[in-house]
This record gives sequence, structure tokens and C-alpha cells, in this order.
Amino acid sequence: MNIAIRMEDVKHRYPDGTPSLYGVDLSIEEGNSVAILGANGSGKTTLLLHLNGTLHPIEGSVYIFGKKITKKNVDYARKNVGVIFQESDDQLFMPTVMDDVAFGALNIKPKEEALEETEKLLNELDLYKFRKKVPHFLSGGQKKLVALAGVLVMRPKILVMDEPTANLDFETKNMIVSIIKRLKKEYKFTLIFTSFDVQIIPVLADKVAIMKKGRVIAYDETRKILTDEDLLKQAGVEPPPFVRLAKRLRFDRIPLTLEETEEEFQKMEPAWETKLEQKIYVK
Ligand SMILES: Nc1ncnc2c1ncn2[C@@H]1O[C@H](COP(=O)(O)OP(=O)(O)OP(=O)(O)O)[C@@H](O)[C@H]1O
Ligand SMILES: [Mg+2]
Repeated sequence: MNIAIRMEDVKHRYPDGTPSLYGVDLSIEEGNSVAILGANGSGKTTLLLHLNGTLHPIEGSVYIFGKKITKKNVDYARKNVGVIFQESDDQLFMPTVMDDVAFGALNIKPKEEALEETEKLLNELDLYKFRKKVPHFLSGGQKKLVALAGVLVMRPKILVMDEPTANLDFETKNMIVSIIKRLKKEYKFTLIFTSFDVQIIPVLADKVAIMKKGRVIAYDETRKILTDEDLLKQAGVEPPPFVRLAKRLRFDRIPLTLEETEEEFQKMEPAWETKLEQKIYVK
């Protein structure tokens, strides 16, 4: 398996002197989806900004497909790694949705090809109807989709998303998650994202990295990390509600999603209510 991202003992400090990364080690295989979890200020965004050369380590190294990122080859990083910021307003700056999505592609592809790809993505994400609209006048969810289209149009091998579902309502959140899943199948990018939403992580992530105080303190399969309540609490991350419930009910298999929870309850039928009582009241 190819290694898409490798971070070796990455240390970083902001220009005002704030230390942010204290030695991050992380290796992500091509094609994987990895969620980065951690408390506010643990360094998640700072880590992501190292992947496309927006920030550079003061010590340590970042490799993208084996090539070390330096201040001189930031173009290489930008070409391979597309970043979607938490705030879409930081990303959208052209007068129309069409111009915004096409912008990156026009820089790297012949005009016809770039416009063709732009139209295809606008259609796929149901944004074509907004093509003449000013991006800033769209809703939060619509802006997120425009930002996603504007990055995917450049066909990055690695897609980085900082809190892709923050501030989205339930329906829009589900729509964005299913779009990401669908596009991942089609475009086959490696995905790395941060999130506080423990519901979307099992749906999107193969693996989870836990950050605490500027370090990655755990990195493993999603199920293993999300069922480790002690680890999550120690890192200031809320354990998924289904995990907490299943542990209290002493389920044999800890479910991560609503569907899995339903399956576990069905297995307990027909007398699940009695068993539930026993599991709650008998120590
Ligand atoms: N531009 C900056 N200048 C100085 N310090 C910064 C800057 N951006 C972030 N920091 C500091 O770096 C540390 C890591 O911040 P970062 O934004 O990476 O955390 P985060 O895990 O993304 O947090 P959140 O969950 O709140 O988004 C924090 O101590 C923060 O105060
Ligand atoms: Mg952040």
C-alpha cells in the first residue's frame, strides 16, 4: 500500500510564539479515510495546514507520496492536497459560483477541459442552478458544497476537510456526508478530516487519530478508537452515545451507529425488555 501522508516528529510554533504541534507522527495510506479528533486547541487545524504547505514545521518533516514538502515545492503539495476550510467564507472569493468553482481548474487545465469539469461537478452537486449567484449569498450548506466542488475540480489525490459538517442542520449534514462518500468512490481520493460529530465518524472514517496538546496520542481502526471511552475522555472527546449506552447494557458487540444499535436490540428479542432490566439493575 502506498503511503499518501507521512508526518515525522512535526513541531510547529505560530509567529506570535504560540507552540501548536509538539512532535506529530502520523502515516496515512492511500485511499484511506482518516478522522482527526481532539479537544479545541489540540492542534487539528494546524496539522491539516501542514499538509498542503500553508504552514511549515519548525522541526520534523511532512511527506506527500514520499516527497518531502519544503517552502520551495509548495506547488507540489497544493497540486496533490486539496483543503476545504472550516469557514467556507475564507475559501470563496469569486463573483459567481461558476467562476469560483472553475478558478482552480483554469489555473492548471486548458480552458475547455476546466469548464467541462466545472459543469460536471456543478451538476453532480446540484449546484448548477446557483452558477450565476454570488457565493457569499448562499446558505452555509450550499457554500460548503461550492467549496467542495472548487477543490475537487482540481482532482486532488488527497482531500482535507476541516470540520465539514460544523453548523449544518441534520439533513444538510447527512447530504454532505453521503456526497463525500459518493465522490470518494468516484474520485478515489484519500480523505482526512476533523470533526466533533461522533455520528459521522463511523460513517466516513476507516481510522481515527486522537490529538491531545499538539500530539497524536492514538491512531487505530475507527471501531477500536471510538469504543475506548477512557481514551476519548482523556482527550476531551465525547464518546458516541451508542457506545456509552451499549457499555452500560453490556452488549457483546459495541455498536457505533443507530443501525448497528438497532441490530443489537433485535438480537435480544423477543425478551429484550426483560434483559434490558436485568442488565441495568443487575450489576
Ligand atoms: N494564527 C495563530 N496564531 C497563533 N496561535 C495560533 C494560531 N492559530 C492557532 N493557534 C494556537 O495553536 C494551537 C492549536 O490550534 P488549532 O487551531 O490547530 O487547534 P484545533 O484543534 O483546530 O482547535 P479547534 O477544535 O478549536 O478548531 C492553539 O493553542 C491555538 O491557540
Ligand atoms: Mg480547528
